[in-house]
Amino acid sequence: MKNVGLIGCGNIAETYFRAQDYFNNIKFVACADKFQEVSKKCADQYNIKSLTVDEILKDTNVDVILNLTIPQAHFEISKLALEYGKHVYSEKPMSIKYDEAHELLNLAKEKNLYIGNAPDTFLGGGGQVARKFVDDGDIGKVMTGNFIFAFPGVQEFHPNPESWFQSGGGPVIDMGPYFFTTLVNLLGPVKNVRSRGKKFADQREYLVGPKKGKSFNVDISTSVMLDIEFANEAIIQGFISFDVQNHARNHMELYGTKGSLVVPDPNMFGGPVLLSRELGSEWQEFSVEDKYLGKTNIINHSGRSNEAPKQSNYRGVGLSEMIYSIENNIQHRCNGNLALHVLDIIESTIIASETKKEVSLRSTCDQPKPLLEEQIKLLIKND
Ligand SMILES: NC(=O)c1ccc[n+]([C@@H]2O[C@H](COP(=O)([O-])OP(=O)(O)OC[C@H]3O[C@@H](n4cnc5c(N)ncnc54)[C@H](O)[C@@H]3O)[C@@H](O)[C@H]2O)c1
Repeated sequence: MKNVGLIGCGNIAETYFRAQDYFNNIKFVACADKFQEVSKKCADQYNIKSLTVDEILKDTNVDVILNLTIPQAHFEISKLALEYGKHVYSEKPMSIKYDEAHELLNLAKEKNLYIGNAPDTFLGGGGQVARKFVDDGDIGKVMTGNFIFAFPGVQEFHPNPESWFQSGGGPVIDMGPYFFTTLVNLLGPVKNVRSRGKKFADQREYLVGPKKGKSFNVDISTSVMLDIEFANEAIIQGFISFDVQNHARNHMELYGTKGSLVVPDPNMFGGPVLLSRELGSEWQEFSVEDKYLGKTNIINHSGRSNEAPKQSNYRGVGLSEMIYSIENNIQHRCNGNLALHVLDIIESTIIASETKKEVSLRSTCDQPKPLLEEQIKLLIKND
C-alpha cells in the first residue's frame, strides 16, 4: 500500500478515485490543483486533505504523485515530483515533447524513483486476450492491419474545447497514446512512421456552454492518416480524426499469415475479441466478461461513435501495478520507457506529416510482459 497525492482535480479524477475501490494498494491521502477551490471540493468529496501544489510535493506522508493535470503541464508537475523524491504516475501523454519526457526518464533513473504513465487500458481483458492470440500464433505472423479513432471533436460536448485544437493538442496527441500503446503491446516496438495531416477549417464553433454560437481558432491538423512500420516488419495503417460524424469500422484489425483478429477499443478495457482463422470461416467471438479487468462496470452512453454504451473501465490498474512493482522491486508494465516510445511515435507522426518524409524513431522499448489473471488477482481488493 502506498499513499498517493493527486495533482489536477479535473474530469478524470473521479475515475481514479474509483480505482481505490478496485485495487488493494492505492490510498489517496491528499489532492492539489492550480485552483484551490477545485482541490477543496475534491478533498471534501473524498474525505482527504486539500493542499497547495507546493505543500503536496513537500508532504512526507505522500509516496506517489498521481499527475492528472492537462498534457501541457505534465512535464512541469512530474519533474517537480521527482525532484521532491516522489514516485510519479501521470496521465497520457508523458509530456507534449519527446525531449522533455526523456529528461523525466533520466531524472527518475538518477533518483532511483519509478515513473509510470497512462494508458493502462492495454492491461484490460480485451488487450490481454488479443495479446494471447497474437503470442500463441493463432493468426500466424502479423503482416498488416489498421486502426481508426474518428469523431466530430470535443466541441460537441465540452464548453472549453480550445486546448484540443492548439499546439500540444490535436487527435494524435489526444487519442494516439491508446492506439500506439495497444499496438506496441501486441507487436513490440516501432521502427518508423509516415503520415499526412490536414486542417479542413481555420475556425470551429462552440456547440455547448456560455460561448455557444461563437468561434474559436484551429491551429493543428484535425485529421491524420499514417502508417507505422514495426521492428518485427509488420506495417499498420492508422486514421485519427476530429472530422468524422460517424463511422462503422472496427477500432483495430490485424491480418496475419494464418488469420485475422479484431482488437476491441484501445480506449477501454473490455471486449469482445474476434478471431477468424481462415478464408470464409465464421468469426469467433471471445467475451472477456469473465476477466478481472474485462467485466462491464459502466453503463453510460456518451454518444461518441467510438464508445459503446456499456464499457469496462479499470483505469488505475497501471498505478496499482506500479505500486506492487515498487514494493517488490520489479519492472512495472506502464513504465517510462514504454511511454517515451509512444510519445516518440506521436511526435514522429506529427513531424512526418509536416515534413512529408518518413521519420525513423529515436527510441525503442521492450514489449510489455502479459498481465496474467493470477497476477491481477494480487492487486484486486477483496471485501
Ligand atoms: N477526461 C477524460 O475523459 C480523460 C480520459 C483519459 C485521460 N485523460 C487525461 O487526463 C488528463 C486530465 O484530463 P481532464 O479531462 O481531467 O482535464 P481537466 O481539464 O478536466 O482537469 C485538469 C485539472 O488540472 C489542473 N491543472 C492544470 N494545470 C495545472 C498545474 N500546472 N498545476 C496544478 N493543477 C493544474 C486544472 O486546474 C484542472 O482542474 C489529461 O492528460 C487527459 O489527456 C482524460
